[in-house]
Amino acid sequence: MIIHPLEKKIILASTLITVAFGVLLLYAAFQQKIDVPDCVPFSKEYLEPGIHKIDEKNYKAVVVSSMWQFAPQQMSVPTGSEVEFFITSKDVVHGFHIAPKNVNLMALYGQVVTYRTKFDKPGVYKIVCHEYCGVGHQSMLSEIIVNDPR
Ligand code: CUA
Repeated sequence: MIIHPLEKKIILASTLITVAFGVLLLYAAFQQKIDVPDCVPFSKEYLEPGIHKIDEKNYKAVVVSSMWQFAPQQMSVPTGSEVEFFITSKDVVHGFHIAPKNVNLMALYGQVVTYRTKFDKPGVYKIVCHEYCGVGHQSMLSEIIVNDPR
């Protein structure tokens, strides 16, 4: 087999660049203690979706969308709570729409979208996927129950 001298140089250069990249990555992770980013939807937190109480007035909602459901399918908070949503997708693009709140977001694979909103009125707020995502799209629902604390 005959390899052109230029091709040899390119193979050598790309091998060196790949090795250097690996060495620098290990150097950053272990020597500099820099967090090497990983794929967000697979972080532990996103394997355990749910609503978490931060303090009396603040909640954090971790929502994982997938074909064709939201997890969790129901959340509840007291009236007057402020909820910060962290929304991601396990697969395709999904929507996240809380109609009475005018919250209109997209759930994307590999990304986390955040949004903070306050629930001043008690009631059941339906959440729908409003981004066509396949045959089960119309049944992709969740809800947030805002309780009157009295
Ligand atoms: Cu998910 Cu439409």
